[in-house]
Amino acid sequence: TEWTTALRYRPYHLWDKEYTKTLEEQVQQSTWRLNFHIQPKSGLLNDPNGFSYFNGQWHLFYQAFPYGPVHGLKSWFHLTSDNLVDWQAEGVKLEPSTKYDSHGVYSGTALPIGEELLLAYTGNVRDRDWNRFSYQMGALMNTQNHITKIEQPLIPAPPEGYTDHFRDPQVIPYQGGYLLIIGAQTVQEEGKVLVYQGDTYTNWQLLGELDYMPAQAGYMVECPNLVFIKDQPVLIFCPQGMAKEDFAYQNIYPNTFVVGEQFDVNNVTLTNPQPIQNLDEGFDLYASQVINAPDGRVLSVGWAGLPELTYPTDEQNWAHCLSLVKELSIKQNRLYQTPITELEVLRQIATPVAGELGALTPLVKENQQNRYELRLTFSPESHGKIHLFADAENKHPFTLHFDAKNGKITIDRSRVSRPLNEAFGTTRTITIDRKQELTFQIFVDQSICEIFVNDGLHVFTSRVFPEIDQTNLFVEGENGHFSGTHWQLRSTF
Ligand code: FRU
Repeated sequence: TEWTTALRYRPYHLWDKEYTKTLEEQVQQSTWRLNFHIQPKSGLLNDPNGFSYFNGQWHLFYQAFPYGPVHGLKSWFHLTSDNLVDWQAEGVKLEPSTKYDSHGVYSGTALPIGEELLLAYTGNVRDRDWNRFSYQMGALMNTQNHITKIEQPLIPAPPEGYTDHFRDPQVIPYQGGYLLIIGAQTVQEEGKVLVYQGDTYTNWQLLGELDYMPAQAGYMVECPNLVFIKDQPVLIFCPQGMAKEDFAYQNIYPNTFVVGEQFDVNNVTLTNPQPIQNLDEGFDLYASQVINAPDGRVLSVGWAGLPELTYPTDEQNWAHCLSLVKELSIKQNRLYQTPITELEVLRQIATPVAGELGALTPLVKENQQNRYELRLTFSPESHGKIHLFADAENKHPFTLHFDAKNGKITIDRSRVSRPLNEAFGTTRTITIDRKQELTFQIFVDQSICEIFVNDGLHVFTSRVFPEIDQTNLFVEGENGHFSGTHWQLRSTF
């Protein structure tokens, strides 16, 4: 298929059922389908949207284009869950249908208000000359999961001095009313985060630009989230085009965070902000949505994919998945991300692993599925490599280099049999505390790998596209020993 603009923006009802069925059947054949991650039945998935707890269930939506692996006419696809692990697909819920969202129901968030769930999203509109218009829209979902769009925009236009790159509203409760946080661009093409305040969700006053870091956030900020971790404000956001002198990153666009001391609403400021940091150190994470959940936890889920790049599954007419759900916390002023404990329900057969570091050896004897969790602890002086998705000869592994003594970790995608997006580099390196015991918690699911380092102080999310026999795990190294557990995991589909 040649994805012309006309085809990408073709109304959903014009696609015939047979086409979709054929597409879904083709996608089911893919050996890269995930077993416990949210993925599209066909076509493209991008940002998580509307993450919430409402009416006794978890709700999660994602940006969807069901008809091909491209960024076409977007809608929200809805899923529900009792445990944040096993998800029930509820279908496409917010299709473009009005003059305020004709060219895409773009990203947004959800907030329970009374007996209903408010969905706040961006209506993307193009005119005949393909000029962009951006409307901040609302919809209400009732306890039957039936959604009604609110006719008039919540915010009808960007404020004076800003372009129509104005999107991804986050609505949060604040001091008895609400705040709306949104990504914006000035007419001078600077990326900003704007904050609105409302006593009701239909009546918003612009407070101003959020002051949260000394450096300029590039030309656009996407998907900003303001959350409070034990009263400490954290901004999680995606700056596009940020200068590498201001912030070192390698992905096309990073997903980043800034921890503040307090949120000063009068001055629209995160006071005493820490330096901007990568939320994820891997190759493939973007557009994280983070919520203050009613159970007191701060929960995060991201898009395991990046804008503008291509992936090996494109040829199979599907693209991308969501990350696992993570819990965010702050200890000694540092942000931790840990996989939610609910994920333990996936564990099946446990195998203890332990040994001295030395020549290359299989980490577990028979690992026939890329569907496992691995917890490993290495002694403080150790250094070596863990190879995942490896063939029997270990010629094409995805490699995790660790050096506990010197405090360095590198993931290396240069040797995998299906390289991808090499223009953005094939390794990612971080520094860690030196001469400390080193722990990994690793989740592998067919074509994704999420590595949590030192109890979640660092996370690497990466897509890897192995051949079917590339399910081996090896370890090699020097000066130390390791111990841990390997669990085969069950599938959630
Ligand atoms: C981020 C993003 C958002 C937008 C959505 C459209 O990936 O570009 O800014 O709302 O995707 O699908």
